[in-house]
Amino acid sequence: MKLKRILILFYLKFILVQCKFCSNSTLGTTGNFKEIFLGRCFYFLNILHKNNCMIKSANLNCTQIWKEFSNVILNRNPCEIKKEDFDNFLNMTSHFYDTEKAILWSGTDNMAHQISRLRGYWTLEDVLPGYLYSELTACSNSNKTDFEKECESECMYGNNAFWTAVSIDFARHSTKQVIVILNGTRTEGAAPNRTYFMRFELPNLNYESVKKVKVLLLHSPDKPKYETCSNPITLRYVETFLKSKNVAYECEDDTFFVNNINCIQNPTEKHCETLPGKNFQNSNELETKQFESMSTESAYENDSDDDHTRVLKNETDINELSHGIGKN
Ligand SMILES: *[C@@H]1O[C@H](CO)[C@@H](O)[C@H](O)[C@H]1NC(C)=O
Ligand SMILES: *[C@@H]1O[C@H](CO)[C@@H](O)[C@H](O)[C@H]1NC(C)=O
Ligand SMILES: *[C@@H]1O[C@H](CO)[C@@H](O)[C@H](O)[C@H]1NC(C)=O
Ligand SMILES: *[C@@H]1O[C@H](CO)[C@@H](O)[C@H](O)[C@H]1NC(C)=O
Ligand SMILES: *[C@@H]1O[C@H](CO)[C@@H](O)[C@H](O)[C@H]1NC(C)=O
Ligand SMILES: *[C@@H]1O[C@H](CO)[C@@H](O)[C@H](O)[C@H]1NC(C)=O
Ligand SMILES: *[C@@H]1O[C@H](CO)[C@@H](O)[C@H](O)[C@H]1NC(C)=O
Ligand SMILES: *[C@@H]1O[C@H](CO)[C@@H](O)[C@H](O)[C@H]1NC(C)=O
Repeated sequence: MKLKRILILFYLKFILVQCKFCSNSTLGTTGNFKEIFLGRCFYFLNILHKNNCMIKSANLNCTQIWKEFSNVILNRNPCEIKKEDFDNFLNMTSHFYDTEKAILWSGTDNMAHQISRLRGYWTLEDVLPGYLYSELTACSNSNKTDFEKECESECMYGNNAFWTAVSIDFARHSTKQVIVILNGTRTEGAAPNRTYFMRFELPNLNYESVKKVKVLLLHSPDKPKYETCSNPITLRYVETFLKSKNVAYECEDDTFFVNNINCIQNPTEKHCETLPGKNFQNSNELETKQFESMSTESAYENDSDDDHTRVLKNETDINELSHGIGKN
């Protein structure tokens, strides 16, 4: 009884501390930035893709990559950094991957990555240069030999030279068909002009090779749809632009991924009740029913199983899912 009360108190304290922390997070260099960056690099090479010969053959050197990256950032005001300053970094982190399976995204962050990783596709955050810095912040300043605690500069966010450089590079490497996962619920539109997708990715696709762009337009089940494929607003411009490049445009209103992935995470949500095989508490049923339709394409290669570990936290579930998806 007493133990229970202590546990509850501890839990409450935990929540309070968390809220206090969250409500006042400042924009600054991520704690343990160097360790995270290097750790991610070694993890990418030695665990996530340890059996991927395309990546092995690139002979990537994490120590040198870190040196190069920190040399660009340190001792500079963020606004002085140009996208060209990352040319060497891009050169050093470059590796082969299946460029026919590129996914671009805007306004769908988590969901785009879940879909990509489940299906063995590649977003910018799945290739090494983007993977290393995804969700991190690091800034310095003129005459500073170390990273700064605060990074309030506008050049860190909407106009970040790093994300500009890696976005352009990623777009240039895409081939054949590109999938773009956009958000039809967003009230500024699925493809606002201010986004990295519109500014740097769409204009820089390799139009010698890319022949088709397929938009997967996601909608939140519980919110009004701002834009759909049959009622395009910002997507009108995307389509016109692609036509001018002789690229086929396809758009699919899709609630399949949102519903299914959402419902795996939150099985008790109302809209999940109407899905087939709704008995989600039973993970065997989840395995056999929910994923049958996803396993038809050749998206799952042997080495992409590794990626699933980044999608689901429960080890039991991971094993069951990756067998259910990959080896059918
Ligand atoms: C919250 O942020 C403000 C302004 O950045 C700062 O002055 C204050 O000390 C912070 N409070 C906590 C609890 O960190
Ligand atoms: C990576 O580069 C560093 C410094 O240039 C070098 O000392 C190290 O041996 C290299 N590591 C590998 C695995 O090649
Ligand atoms: C990196 O740069 C070197 C020297 O400029 C060049 O030979 C090499 O092809 C480049 N590698 C990539 C992957 O761009
Ligand atoms: C789409 O945008 C809405 C509104 O901003 C947001 O609530 C929702 O989480 C977004 N959907 C995805 C998949 O990120
Ligand atoms: C950095 O140091 C140099 C040389 O000491 C000085 O001329 C310059 O004004 C400094 N820059 C800033 C932003 O403090
Ligand atoms: C986005 O840019 C295009 C091309 O410059 C323009 O035609 C369109 O009106 C812009 N859309 C918005 C919402 O500003
Ligand atoms: C999977 O691995 C087997 C055995 O290593 C190999 O023969 C097969 O080609 C691989 N399949 C794919 C899609 O890479
Ligand atoms: C993981 O899921 C299994 C099956 O649903 C469950 O029995 C187990 O307790 C879960 N483990 C954790 C750590 O949540």
